[in-house]
Amino acid sequence: MDRIELVKAKSFKGTFYPTPDKSISHRAVIFSSLSKGKSIIKNFLRAEDTISTMNAFRELGVDISEVSPPTHPSPSRGEGKGGDKSSKLQAPNSELVINGNGIYGLKEPYNVIDCGNSGTTIRMLSGVLSGNPFFSVLTGDESLRTRPMGRVITPLRQMGAEIMARSEDRYPPVAIKGRRLNAIRYTMPVASAQVKSAILLAGLYADGETEIIEPVKSRDHTERMLPSFGAEINVDGLSVRIKGGTELKGTEVHVPGDFSSAAFFIIGALLIKDSDITIMGVGINPTRTGLISALKEMGADIEIYNIRNLSGEPVADIHCKGGTKLKAINITKEKIPALIDEFPILCVAATQAEGITTIRGAEELRVKESDRIKSMATELRKMGAEIEEFDDGLSIMGKRRLKGAFIESYRDHRVAMSLSIAALIADGTTTINNVSSVNISFPGFFEILRRLTL
Ligand code: S3P
Repeated sequence: MDRIELVKAKSFKGTFYPTPDKSISHRAVIFSSLSKGKSIIKNFLRAEDTISTMNAFRELGVDISEVSPPTHPSPSRGEGKGGDKSSKLQAPNSELVINGNGIYGLKEPYNVIDCGNSGTTIRMLSGVLSGNPFFSVLTGDESLRTRPMGRVITPLRQMGAEIMARSEDRYPPVAIKGRRLNAIRYTMPVASAQVKSAILLAGLYADGETEIIEPVKSRDHTERMLPSFGAEINVDGLSVRIKGGTELKGTEVHVPGDFSSAAFFIIGALLIKDSDITIMGVGINPTRTGLISALKEMGADIEIYNIRNLSGEPVADIHCKGGTKLKAINITKEKIPALIDEFPILCVAATQAEGITTIRGAEELRVKESDRIKSMATELRKMGAEIEEFDDGLSIMGKRRLKGAFIESYRDHRVAMSLSIAALIADGTTTINNVSSVNISFPGFFEILRRLTL
């Protein structure tokens, strides 16, 4: 049965490497597949979402091989600041070698491309395929087939793409007949790195320079990584420009640890009294770490040290301890993009903060892998939380004692992992349904959880 039972934890102790970054792993596969020659991707995330991207490019004729078997949690002793009470763990990862044939080196797929649960795959591929002179169809699982596609179809059509989708161009499946595109200047109505990246990729196939203006800065991994493959990208505040027609050349990318995966353990450590953990090699790109700023504002003591650079991304080790008193905060619209994927786990932290935490301007959370506003409000209430729901967010009353309950993850990986942390601070036993969804971004999550709570 796809469920897990968890009980209250006394402490969270140890040192571990989180899973490799999901967003960066997707991009490394996509850009390598569009490059001429060999690329090597070190510390690639071997999870369901990124495997969807890898398989999609195999369908498009790209030669992708895995040169090292995935590593599994190892029993070696820890050496981070969290002390040596538990083992240093390594979430599964692998190394890829990709031999690409350039931006026009893809082949027409023989079948429909299944993007699984991955919004990043379907949106970024829509941009790529709009510029390729063949027919393709993109689809995905039940959840992906409810994710909005109009936000990529509108700008891609302005570029001249022949692209259409189910339900008046709203949802997947998406059908594309690619062709040579024209450059546009596009002001994005919604801050979205997936949409921005889709347009930038289409911009590679356009005559002239394509410019995108974002309402608020979203994650900038594409802008950081694509130039290392030879693309010409200029960033000026909220404007990003890309020159069309440039060939890409294979290179080596080393993927940092995923801050969004580390986030569950950071909050777990802050909420469980006797905790002391160190998370190694975590990406701390400022477009991703809004949660750190939010937690610091709440009074948390989080140490970020040993800051270094890995393939153009800032990386650090993170150390945090339990027992600090947190106080409520207000999160407003402009802060959402930098903590978009940390909303579910932030809701868990808010149930334990002094005062009422309000998160508004977060309507994008309704169109993620599940309606995350509803999912978190409904399930945390079952555990005793007091939450008011708005169209664009939540108000969460703090200092509520959570109790074990039978709860649902809605097959949403980040909801499943956030509720698991809630279960560790709740009285009694919590049963969470449909937890295999953690494999979307964090295979090995429950193994690390178990070892840290030993
Ligand atoms: C992602 C962008 C974000 C984020 C998603 C990954 C990316 O989505 O929520 O998990 O890799 O570009 P949006 O672009 O829809 O905000």
